[in-house]
Amino acid sequence: MNAALQASPDPVAPDPTPVLDSRILRTALGQFATGITVVTTRADGGQFVGLTVNSFSALSLEPPLILWSLRVSSPSLPVFEGAERFVVNVLAEAQVEVSRRFALPVADKFDGVPHAENAWGLPLLHGAAAWFECRKVSQQMAGDHCLFIAEVERFTLSDAAPLLFHAGGYFTLGSRL
Ligand SMILES: Cc1cc2nc3c(=O)[nH]c(=O)nc-3n(C[C@H](O)[C@H](O)[C@H](O)COP(=O)(O)O)c2cc1C
Repeated sequence: MNAALQASPDPVAPDPTPVLDSRILRTALGQFATGITVVTTRADGGQFVGLTVNSFSALSLEPPLILWSLRVSSPSLPVFEGAERFVVNVLAEAQVEVSRRFALPVADKFDGVPHAENAWGLPLLHGAAAWFECRKVSQQMAGDHCLFIAEVERFTLSDAAPLLFHAGGYFTLGSRL
């Protein structure tokens, strides 16, 4: 057994240390591998808004519900709070630069990123692995994030392989077990 494993707490008798170290918590949370999405909408003034999100999750099949969360300090929060609808673009493995771009506080994230508009005038990013066109049904502050729950009104999938995120890095699908 190596030192790291020896140092690990026994999961049956967890270390009762009461103080949460947020840096270690973040590392532990990073052990949960996810896909990557860019959630997009349109502000009242007409400009497109979007950001990279990996808090996206399926929630319910009947009715079809999804969720994601947005940090409350985000300048995009007022737009998503006011938006009736948004699109969850599930990124494909060829879209790592799209993920990086939409995670930066740049003025026009959509510049140079090919996209179309759906029936509600919301941006659909070209080349995604799937698109979920959603109508918001609830929003709720939860700690330092705002939790959005939405009904999937339309969805489309492509045959592109998804982009993955784990421990702060990007990955592609490995072998199926
Ligand atoms: C892989 C990845 C996943 C992310 N997931 C989220 C998320 O779920 N919620 C969130 O608020 N920010 C998330 N972020 C950070 C935002 O993408 C980033 O802060 C972005 O600049 C927010 O846009 P804004 O400047 O309009 O707030 C993520 C970033 C990366 C790289």
